[in-house]
Amino acid sequence: MRKLIVFNWKMGPPSLAQAKRLLTHNLQQTIKNKNGEIVICPPFIYLSGLSSVVSRQSLVKLGAQDVFWENRGAYTGEISPAMLKNSKVDYVIVGHSERRRHLGETDEMINKKVLAALRAGFKVILCVGEPARELRIKNNELRMKAAKNYVKNQLERDLRGIHNSKFIIRNSLIVAYEPIWAIGTGVPAEPENVREMIQFIKKLLITNYHLLIPKVLYGGSVDSRNIADFLKYPEIDGALVGGASLKSAEVRDIIKIVSKHST
Ligand code: 13P
Repeated sequence: MRKLIVFNWKMGPPSLAQAKRLLTHNLQQTIKNKNGEIVICPPFIYLSGLSSVVSRQSLVKLGAQDVFWENRGAYTGEISPAMLKNSKVDYVIVGHSERRRHLGETDEMINKKVLAALRAGFKVILCVGEPARELRIKNNELRMKAAKNYVKNQLERDLRGIHNSKFIIRNSLIVAYEPIWAIGTGVPAEPENVREMIQFIKKLLITNYHLLIPKVLYGGSVDSRNIADFLKYPEIDGALVGGASLKSAEVRDIIKIVSKHST
C-alpha cells in the first residue's frame, strides 16, 4: 500500500527563496522514490509561488495548513476554499492542535471548516489527539481508554453532519492522530499504542461515518530515525511530519524510508 507523508512546514521557512529551495530538494528525492505519496503544506503566503514548481510534475501535492468555511464575505485575514482551489492546492489540514490552542479554534469552527473543505473538493486532513492530561495515567490500558474516549468525542464534534455529504466527498476525509503531548517534544507515542488508536479511529469512521476505506496518519515527533517503526504497521497509512520537514537531510531520509514501506 502507498503510504501518505504530509510535511507540515508550520510557520517556516522565513523566505520564499528558501521555501523554493526546500521544495526543489523534496522534489528531487521524490522523483527518485516514486512509491509514497508526498504532500507539502507550506504557509499560505508561499502557495502561489510554489504552485508553479509543483505543477511541472505530479509526484508532490500541495496542501494548506488551514482554510476558512466561507467562500466570500468580510472576514479579515481569512483564506477561502475558492482561493486555495486557484492555488493548485489538493489537501487542507483542519483542526491542528496548535490552532486549537493558540488561536482558540473550537470544534464548532473546525466542523464548519471540515464540511466546507470537503464540499469544495479537497482532501481534508483532520487532526485529533488527546492532551498531556491523559498521559499522566500510568496504567497503559487505562491511559489508552481515556485517550480513545477523548478522540471519539472530538470526532463526534468535528464530524457533525458529515453523514449528509455525498459518499464520494466523505471518503476524501483523512484523520491525523496527533497526541498533543508528542508534538514538538522529541518523544513520539509508542508505535503499538498508535496502531491500537488508529484501528479504533478506523472502526469509528467505518461504523459511525460510513467511510469506505478510511485513511489515518500518525503525527508527533516523527523523524527519519523513528518513522519506520510506524510505517511497518499496515494500519498506519502514513505520517504528518512537523519539525523534521524543514530539514533537507531529514526529508531525504524520510522519503527513502517511505519508499521502502510502500508497495
Ligand atoms: P512535530 O513533528 O514537530 O512533532 O510536529 C507534528 C505536527 O504537529 C505535524 O502537524
